[in-house]
Amino acid sequence: MYFESHAHYDDKRFDDDRYETIERVYANGVDYIVNSGSDMNSSEFGIELSHKYPFFYAAVGIHPHETKDIKQEDMLKLLAMSKDEKVVAIGEIGLDYYYDLSPRDIQRKWFEKQLDLSIEAKLPVIIHSRDAAGECFDIIKNSGVRKGVIHSYSGSVEMALDYIEMGFYIGVGGIVTFKNAKKPANVVKSIPISKILIETDSPYLTPEPNRGVRNDSQNLKYIVEKIAQIKQIEPEKVAEITMVNAKELFFEK
Ligand code: NI
Repeated sequence: MYFESHAHYDDKRFDDDRYETIERVYANGVDYIVNSGSDMNSSEFGIELSHKYPFFYAAVGIHPHETKDIKQEDMLKLLAMSKDEKVVAIGEIGLDYYYDLSPRDIQRKWFEKQLDLSIEAKLPVIIHSRDAAGECFDIIKNSGVRKGVIHSYSGSVEMALDYIEMGFYIGVGGIVTFKNAKKPANVVKSIPISKILIETDSPYLTPEPNRGVRNDSQNLKYIVEKIAQIKQIEPEKVAEITMVNAKELFFEK
């Protein structure tokens, strides 16, 4: 039924019940999961999980927060990891000027290098962009990368349409269900559903009505219901179309 395009089941918040949780969400209609890497260890762990479950896939990459710790040799390791048959994307990579946990010039440098890596690996990218919208867009544009998803998109309608024009999907997650989320709802309303992927970003960003507790992929149903309401179509249709979209991005070479 659902294609979870972005989750972090490697996260320590799943240490007590990781396997039960993955098996439970699968039993409850989450047919595919892409686990997003955030550093070398989580990328490695994502691959390990993907080998355990046929429905589980991995993205490998280093989150902007963690770029201060990257070593040059990590790029070669990521490239080697990208050759695993269950690795479907490079990510999550990008810029985060909200938390600024790594210096901005370092974030930019490794973002560019990982975009180049995605071209070499012939894989799409999963982009994290926070408070860096213009710069993030320009770097992607200049990189020549034309296949990927802007995860948990929080920008303007105009920029969403520019990303789509450039070949990207827009990732819609828990934020769209928040009561004051007029901007994300307006983005969903204004872009074609053929360009939307659904995601939870578990264990983060739990949607209404479950805010405040740890997120897992079973909550995709609330995101789907919200998109259905905005687009005025059946939730089943949203699940079906976003499944086709995600398969096109991650599974078609
Ligand atoms: Ni994430």
